[in-house]
Amino acid sequence: MKSCLRIAPCCLMATAVAIGIVHCGRSAESDPQGASAATAESPSWRRIDRSRYIGSATCAECHQKHFVDWYGTLHAKMVQLPLAEGLAQTIFADFKQQSPHRNFELEDVTSVIGSRWKQRFIGRIDGHEVVFPAQWSVQKKTWLSYGGKSDWWYPYHKDWKSRSVFKLCDGCHSTGADHYTQTFAERNIGCERCHGPGKAHVEEPAVDNIVNPARLSRDRSIDICLSCHLSGKPPGTEYAWPVGYEPGMELKEFWQGSKPQRGKQTAEFWHNGTAHKNRVQGNTFLQSGMYHAGLQCTACHNPHGSRHRSMTIKSGDDNALCLICHGPEKDLGPDYKTLSDHTGHAPTSVGSRCVECHMPKTGKNSVPGESRNHTFDFISPAETIKHGVPNSCNGCHADKTPEWALSELKKWPR
Ligand code: HEC
Ligand code: HEC
Ligand code: HEC
Ligand code: HEC
Ligand code: HEC
Ligand code: HEC
Ligand code: HEC
Ligand code: HEC
Repeated sequence: MKSCLRIAPCCLMATAVAIGIVHCGRSAESDPQGASAATAESPSWRRIDRSRYIGSATCAECHQKHFVDWYGTLHAKMVQLPLAEGLAQTIFADFKQQSPHRNFELEDVTSVIGSRWKQRFIGRIDGHEVVFPAQWSVQKKTWLSYGGKSDWWYPYHKDWKSRSVFKLCDGCHSTGADHYTQTFAERNIGCERCHGPGKAHVEEPAVDNIVNPARLSRDRSIDICLSCHLSGKPPGTEYAWPVGYEPGMELKEFWQGSKPQRGKQTAEFWHNGTAHKNRVQGNTFLQSGMYHAGLQCTACHNPHGSRHRSMTIKSGDDNALCLICHGPEKDLGPDYKTLSDHTGHAPTSVGSRCVECHMPKTGKNSVPGESRNHTFDFISPAETIKHGVPNSCNGCHADKTPEWALSELKKWPR
């Protein structure tokens, strides 16, 4: 309730601003395509008041542990200046390696996006920030082309030379992005990207002038993560992020998440609704029994970081994470005498890790098979035989056929 009261006045203001934009706004001049697509009613054109943002460094003064932990996460390091941490620490790409895809040099790069799976590069063309058309795969240690052809926005932004970093990327890689001024308050996913603008809270710290996701309903809370981790598009604009959304609001007003079309493979999903690419954690989790049971991302992930890979609250490698809630002695099961009864592998084998069967790497990130599926379904080899969907067995047993895996599976005691 509290957050509704706080948000209501800005919504009114937003409507007024939205009307202003359509008739006389700056965006209308610089962006005829986007403006004509937007309507006066479209909440997507709500303006973000950057003066209400104060920056993560200020939060550190009173919330030091949160700050130090967050600073170690990739959320804090999404977009970096090329020399931020020293050249070899920031740029993993090899600019000596020749590639037909790469038409730029390190000197042309003003900032670098990503570090774990791939790196993309930003430069300036005619004074505007654009994304260069080649990316580096961390796993393959090679240059790949980056064309955006599988993205829904491709028809609006075909030519990479005019592909705006602000319109296509900044809403998910920065904090307080305002389409009206085409600027953001802070580079990267800062505190206020999840807690809302914090200037008033800093001036007079209280619980009711800052968004604490733990005090929101489950749906409003998970919306915060979904505002970036749910593949989709905003209504009526050619921007690629939920323009005007701030924590505490209902994401649905600003963003339409893509849904799987059963039996059909799309850019985002395999035939059975599992992850075909990265960044669909939200789209896939929404299909799972755990979502329907009321869980959210923070059941497994600590948004302020952890010592485990992917900020999980416990390790996925030794099953500790899943066994917080699951296991034979718990109501949720699975029921087994020994772990091997359930997994068909020795207890210490990687084949006995919950995540390997229930979150196989079905999604393409820089290359296929990097991103973990978040429907948490066991994917039977039968799905591969039917539709070519990657299954829970042959990712490891790549030298065997799905038919082999299916017949082995049938021999298991379970
Ligand atoms: C001047 C010190 C100070 C600064 C700076 C500050 N906070 Fe706080 N914050 C507090 C205090 C004190 C509380 C506890 C308030 C209470 O319990 O009444 C708090 C509570 C919170 C809470 C929990 C609210 C709840 O519902 O329990 C969050 C979330 C939070 N702060 C986030 C932030 C963020 C984000 C920033 C930076 C934009 C920030 N704070 C900056 C002092 C500060
Ligand atoms: C990716 C989103 C995200 C970012 C970034 C983030 N937080 Fe949080 N924060 C959350 C969530 C979600 C919760 C509620 C956790 C829960 O459910 O218990 C939270 C809770 C808090 C709380 C309440 C106490 C607690 O730990 O539950 C404070 C204080 C806080 N955050 C401060 C910060 C500060 C300061 C920063 C930046 C240095 C920051 N947060 C960055 C998502 C985020
Ligand atoms: C709707 C939100 C959203 C938009 C828009 C978006 N991204 Fe991302 N991006 C994400 C999320 C969330 C992840 C992490 C998800 C994952 O790894 O599956 C990510 C991951 C990445 C990564 C990989 C990071 C790493 O460490 O390997 C790169 C590179 C990247 N994005 C570049 C871009 C570029 C360039 C654009 C604009 C053309 C863009 N993104 C637009 C949300 C977005
Ligand atoms: C503003 C957009 C944004 C929001 C909001 C956001 N994320 Fe992210 N998240 C990203 C991007 C971008 C990356 C990729 C960072 C990279 O690889 O450099 C990422 C990466 C991650 C990762 C992988 C981290 C790793 O170490 O590889 C996890 C887990 C994650 N986010 C969980 C969450 C959760 C949980 C929430 C909500 C509490 C959340 N995110 C909110 C954009 C966002
Ligand atoms: C915070 C508690 C919690 C954690 C941690 C947790 N689960 Fe669950 N899990 C649940 C709940 C609750 C259900 C729903 C049971 C139901 O539908 O009745 C569930 C259901 C499931 C199901 C049944 C799927 C379905 O769609 O019905 C699978 C499979 C599963 N979890 C796997 C995992 C795996 C793998 C992990 C670790 C990565 C994990 N869970 C971590 C609470 C948890
Ligand atoms: C080698 C593969 C494999 C591993 C490893 C694995 N599972 Fe499963 N799991 C399955 C299969 C197969 C099913 C049955 C799926 C179905 O019927 O769709 C299943 C079903 C489940 C279910 C649904 C309820 C039930 O009792 O059938 C839960 C919950 C579950 N697993 C949790 C876990 C947890 C927790 C771990 C780690 C301790 C784990 N699984 C490890 C293959 C695996
Ligand atoms: C039941 C536990 C669980 C829930 C709920 C969950 N995740 Fe994950 N997530 C994991 C595990 C386990 C990993 C893999 C950890 C590792 O790297 O080994 C992971 C990995 C990720 C990654 C890294 C990319 C990748 O493909 O490995 C991102 C980003 C992420 N999760 C985001 C989210 C978001 C956003 C939500 C909510 C929409 C969410 N997760 C819900 C358990 C969970
Ligand atoms: C994370 C990797 C991984 C996954 C997933 C996995 N396995 Fe295995 N599997 C192994 C490894 C490693 C061995 C070697 C012996 C051991 O460590 O238990 C093995 C051994 C086996 C064996 C006995 C040795 C052989 O090659 O004939 C069978 C049968 C088998 N797995 C079937 C399956 C089936 C069926 C699935 C899917 C339900 C599956 N595995 C999923 C890693 C995996």
